[in-house]
Amino acid sequence: MSENSLPKHVAFIMDGNGRWAKKRHKARSAGHTAGYGALQKIIAHAFKSGVETISFYAFSTENWSRPKEEVDKLLSLMSKALKLAGKKLLDEKIRLVISGDYSVLKPRTVKAISDLIEKTSKFTPYTVNICFNYGSRAEIVNAVNNMISDGIRKCDEKILSKYLYTKDLPDPDLIVRTSGEQRLSNFLMWQASYSELYFTDVLWPDFDEKEFDKAIEWYKTRERRYGKS
Ligand code: IPE
Ligand code: IPE
Ligand code: MG
Repeated sequence: MSENSLPKHVAFIMDGNGRWAKKRHKARSAGHTAGYGALQKIIAHAFKSGVETISFYAFSTENWSRPKEEVDKLLSLMSKALKLAGKKLLDEKIRLVISGDYSVLKPRTVKAISDLIEKTSKFTPYTVNICFNYGSRAEIVNAVNNMISDGIRKCDEKILSKYLYTKDLPDPDLIVRTSGEQRLSNFLMWQASYSELYFTDVLWPDFDEKEFDKAIEWYKTRERRYGKS
């Protein structure tokens, strides 16, 4: 069996923050704060390892159905994280992509995010893609509506891909989901057509550099066939 090289794009479904907090008799919000810590560690480590693009599922279109207090916590973590990340992204020349409709955040935050996306847009090759208020179905419907507005009368796979939030990103080679759940939960469903899927019981706040390396080693053993014999 041929060995895969390093994945170019790794995408994370960061799941298990709530269970992590519950185990410690803490509020769910403490789990989300700890999850943010794990995300920062993984970004630094992934780029050091040579992975060029990393995506994180931070908030889904379905997560609005959580209690208001929890939604507010997740939104404020998102705003805070991006505020704090600004300098680092510019200093380290990391491109920021947001997949999803972030216009729901406070106008000041929306402006700061748009500016950061613009200022980092030319940086290569390192890219962080935050999937916020993201769902694959909403993404595809949005793409189709934009195609209609642009007067496109015949669609093909290439055109549709160019209307997705991920238009400038390669498809994920590897998708990692933590916390033992084995589903996509509306995450990058178009882009994941040929992704390798890695599931671990580790809860997201406990997912560290060692766990990341394990996922990469597993990926390297996979044979990617793309339908060929
Ligand atoms: C992932 O952790 C964070 C988000 C979905 C935003 P959860 O909050 O889903 O944690 P569990 O699944 O309840 O443990
Ligand atoms: C998926 O986790 C969404 C994010 C990680 C942001 P959920 O915890 O919302 O997924 P389900 O509801 O268990 O499928
Ligand atoms: Mg969950």
